Amino acid sequence: QNRFAQFKLVLLGESAVGKSSIVHRFVKNTFDDLRESTIGAAFLTQSINLPDLKTTIKFEIWDTAGQERYKSLAPMYYRNANAALCVYDITSLSSFNKAQDWIKELKKQAPEGIVIALVGNKTDLTENRQVDNDEVLQYINDLNNDSNSKIIHSECSAKLGEGVLDIFDQIARSLPID
Ligand code: GTP
Ligand code: MG
Repeated sequence: QNRFAQFKLVLLGESAVGKSSIVHRFVKNTFDDLRESTIGAAFLTQSINLPDLKTTIKFEIWDTAGQERYKSLAPMYYRNANAALCVYDITSLSSFNKAQDWIKELKKQAPEGIVIALVGNKTDLTENRQVDNDEVLQYINDLNNDSNSKIIHSECSAKLGEGVLDIFDQIARSLPID
């Protein structure tokens, strides 16, 4: 007997951090070196199986556009989301600051109980790393200490396909399946 649950997930983050690339890796297991910047938002779905929980989870994914001119659209997508991926690029400190801003905004405006994941992408570019993982862990620790909802943190490479599935698996396991 398999259980089935469906959740809305939104991706947020500065332009070019790799939100669409993460989604395409997860949904189609492909990567494009010349992906075009998203206009408005894109909608995709993908299901994952949690055999140990005898559960299938379907994600309805809103991949938002990171360019500044689309910023005002974001609340439409996170307003009824069950989970949010705040993505930064490990080679860009400004993108990490932007991801922190998204977390702040979600904590103020998003539905209570939303599952938040802070995701550092492009781990294949280690030689250009600007965001120190220990500092991110410290930030996550501080946040998790003074709130009841735990933020998930993970790094990945959409290009290599490393760590991507794990993020969605962690999120799926943090969602309320009864
Ligand atoms: P917007 O749609 O403008 O918000 O950008 P986005 O966050 O969706 O970024 P997108 O997925 O379009 O990726 C931007 C660029 O980064 C593309 O040229 C990708 O090929 C590249 N990229 C994405 N993920 C990775 C990665 O893991 N490693 C490397 N080296 N490049 C990546
Ligand atoms: Mg995009």
